[in-house]
Amino acid sequence: MTAISTHIVPIELGERSYKIHIGTGLIADASTFQNLPKASSVMVVSNTTVAPVYARQLLTALSQPYATVHLVELPDGEQHKNWETLNLIFDALLGHACDRKTLVVALGGGVVGDMAGFAAACFMRGVPFVQIPTTLLSQVDSSVGGKTGINHPMGKNMVGAFYQPLQVVCDIDTLSSLPQREISAGLAEIIKYGPIADMEFFTWIERNIDALLQRDASALAYAIRRSCEIKAHVVGQDEREGGLRAILNFGHTFGHAIEAGMGYGAWLHGEAVGCGMVMAAQLSHQLGLIDSAFVDRLRTLIVRAGLKVAGPVLDAKDNAGRYLELMRHDKKAEAGEIRFVVINESSQASMQTAPDAMVRNVIDMCCTP
Ligand code: NAD
Ligand code: GLY
Repeated sequence: MTAISTHIVPIELGERSYKIHIGTGLIADASTFQNLPKASSVMVVSNTTVAPVYARQLLTALSQPYATVHLVELPDGEQHKNWETLNLIFDALLGHACDRKTLVVALGGGVVGDMAGFAAACFMRGVPFVQIPTTLLSQVDSSVGGKTGINHPMGKNMVGAFYQPLQVVCDIDTLSSLPQREISAGLAEIIKYGPIADMEFFTWIERNIDALLQRDASALAYAIRRSCEIKAHVVGQDEREGGLRAILNFGHTFGHAIEAGMGYGAWLHGEAVGCGMVMAAQLSHQLGLIDSAFVDRLRTLIVRAGLKVAGPVLDAKDNAGRYLELMRHDKKAEAGEIRFVVINESSQASMQTAPDAMVRNVIDMCCTP
């Protein structure tokens, strides 16, 4: 990647405030980590795909400030985001006699970040941790804001904790080895920020989608920075999702149903969100909040990002019924009533319920037979 200067996005959460570093050459540079507190040891949590490529340079950089640095490699994949894999982190921490002053460092995509963060929240009732996201999706979303956790067979991210990192390091160089399908998945979460918060950014993405797909470093740096700014602003107002933060889940209610209904890992999270945003936009249209032209505009951008816009059939007999059943397990549901993130013409998102018949109609319109 072309070298770019580092940009820092602050996230203001009182005593839990931290900085997101966005740039190139960051993980190999010991100075990136110079403001972290002293630690008795460091446990880098990665996976079998990312560690062989990036762990060595990170371990070398971390071994300058820290005398003892360990690495644990998890199996790769959303299907491993569960208790069994989480226990591998605790096994490594206890096996290396780590203590309350051990720093946990997540090196990987959102799956590694969510699990390492949850392990850090639980180990000895909480040890400090750092996020080093290596996918586009994790750099623009999952590493920021402190949501950590694992999946349950009955629902996505159902077991977890809010636990903020001390620092987030987005090294754009790591995106050079990312499969193209994962770049597209990350673009879904970037596109999301337009309709919910910033239509100028949405227009910028429309103009720069090809540069983003081609991994132009300055386009990626701007998209990551603007996404993190928007997310930091939302999380800064509503850290624990009392209300506003739920808008970051635009497209996720339908998307989580696709992920769970297809079996975790069959559709990438970003792919499910891309398709889920089309469904949520269609629902917003049926609720009279946006015109059909905006649904078409969003669908066009999602297609240009290399993503699917037709939902999968989850049940040949009663597809909409299966979606509804899965969505009633969504964390935003209250007393079994599904609450959808919907958008309006002024890029203001809100939470609304909708009649089952309307939701069924949207699913029928948006799913491939
Ligand atoms: P992922 O972590 O599964 O990574 C995608 C794939 O890319 C994996 O195979 C991974 O090993 C590989 N990979 C990672 N970095 C690489 C690199 N630099 N080069 C080559 N390969 C690399 O998926 P993801 O899209 O990063 O994250 C999705 C997860 O994030 C989901 O579990 C989702 O629920 C979660 N998520 C959490 C939040 C949050 O706020 N905590 C927000 C959004 C998504
Ligand atoms: N990805 C949604 C959130 O962080 O709240």
